[in-house]
Order: sequence, then C-alpha cells, then structure tokens
Amino acid sequence: MKEITKEQRDALIATAIAARKQAYVPYSKYPVGAALLTGSGKVFLGANVENAAYPVTICAERVAIFKAVTEGEKDIQAIAVVTKNGGTPCGSCRQVMAEFNPNMKIYIADELGTVMQETTLKDILPGYFGPESLVR
Ligand code: THU
Repeated sequence: MKEITKEQRDALIATAIAARKQAYVPYSKYPVGAALLTGSGKVFLGANVENAAYPVTICAERVAIFKAVTEGEKDIQAIAVVTKNGGTPCGSCRQVMAEFNPNMKIYIADELGTVMQETTLKDILPGYFGPESLVR
C-alpha cells in the first residue's frame, strides 16, 4: 500500500466537500459527502440519498464505495467523509469498508475541511467480520 500524501488527503477532503452538495436529505437535513481514492488513482464521490421510507436511505460512504466497485475498482486506499460536525462513518458503512480494505485510511472532516480524525478502518472496527472470516 502506497503512502497517501498530504496533498492527496487534502484533495480528497475538498472533493468530499463538493460531493456533499449533491446529498438528498429532505428528512435529516444532514448532508454527508464522501470521496475515495483507489489504487489506480481514481476518485469516486458519494453523498447520502434519503427516502420517504426512512430505512431505505443510503449513506454517502456506501454510495462512493458501490460506485467504485461497480466500475471495477475494488482497491480502496482512502476515503474522506465530510459532515457539518465531523461525524464518523456508521456501523453499516464500516462493515462495507472492511470488505474491501481493512487498512484503508479514513479522513473525517467538518464542513470547513478541518480534519477531526485521521484513522484506519481496522482502528474504528476492531474484530471486524471480513471475507476471511467466512469459512464454510
Ligand atoms: N449518514 C451518512 O451518509 N453516513 C454515515 O456514516 C452516517 C449517516 C447519513 C444517513 C442519513 O441520510 C443522515 O446521514 C442522518 O443519519
């Protein structure tokens, strides 16, 4: 895994801030933006998309990850998540992240781009259930 430079990190956060503007959040009024970087250097964006049937809502992180995977990019190196207050990825998103790279870097920033937390998936989901766990 290549080191992510500070420039790449800051660019991802800036992209997540822009992605957040596309959030569809008539219910929570809590837009979330995500931007991820793959091993091949591609960037994928996501924003949360809510639904009148509330549980159908999908988080920004999973939108970005599913976009990358369905474009053939499973090697997710880093993801930036931007909210008003530096909220952290929910449990469902952490589980989806664990599937693709437990070592992925996670940058959590507020709407101004202030980095509130810089961590890895492993650190925020210890003891995760991953593909290797599924022994039959
Ligand atoms: N949300 C995300 O997009 N990502 C998270 O990790 C946490 C929550 C969204 C879902 C919903 O649209 C809104 O934030 C409030 O829960």
